[in-house]
Amino acid sequence: MRIVEVGPHYTPIYEYSPVIRDRIRTGSSYIGTCPSNKWIDYTIEKIKGVGGEFIEGMIQKLPLESDSADEIWVMDVFGSWYFKYDVKKTQDGFVCSREEDFHKAFHELARVLKPRGKIIIGELLTPHVQILDEDFSHYGLTVEEFFQGNQTVELGTRYGIDPDSITEFDFFHFGLSDTQSKANRERFFLVLTKT
Ligand SMILES: C[S@@+](CC[C@H](N)C(=O)[O-])C[C@H]1O[C@@H](n2cnc3c(N)ncnc32)[C@H](O)[C@@H]1O
Repeated sequence: MRIVEVGPHYTPIYEYSPVIRDRIRTGSSYIGTCPSNKWIDYTIEKIKGVGGEFIEGMIQKLPLESDSADEIWVMDVFGSWYFKYDVKKTQDGFVCSREEDFHKAFHELARVLKPRGKIIIGELLTPHVQILDEDFSHYGLTVEEFFQGNQTVELGTRYGIDPDSITEFDFFHFGLSDTQSKANRERFFLVLTKT
């Protein structure tokens, strides 16, 4: 079983979930990928510590083979990335173009995922609600499950993620316009499969 994580940076998924950490220790492979920045050595050391591999890359052009991942985690990447669009040149030193890069990202996630694999998108810190309007059939993906607000704990329990680490960001939501409704600020998990 190959687990891929896009944007592991400060908290790779196995730090949220002892169950996933055990899966990596007992035979699953883990590859983390994100753009390099000045804190990247910290991430690389963490990933080496569990016997995983780090490959520098971006979600718009994943440095991974097609049909190679059973499970792809994307935790709080779209939200933070979305806000970076406003400044065009990001902290990580790359330039984004909102529409184009968003579509590239989903084409890439679909390409790298094995048939019947799962992409789990968690938006806990800066919920990227625009994702929810996307027609995933364009990418050969289907929405298998959607968890919003308090339901997110349910998905967390299934994967061994501590409920406290799911709710801890509720006080920190930032960047969303005041005109958005409270519902639009709610954290969510989206589970996609490849059809
Ligand atoms: C808010 S951090 C989330 C880190 C970690 N997933 C977590 O939950 O703590 C956002 C992450 O998205 C990554 N990121 C931003 N834009 C990206 C892109 N275009 N491709 C891949 N990763 C990206 C950043 O490098 C960073 O790792």
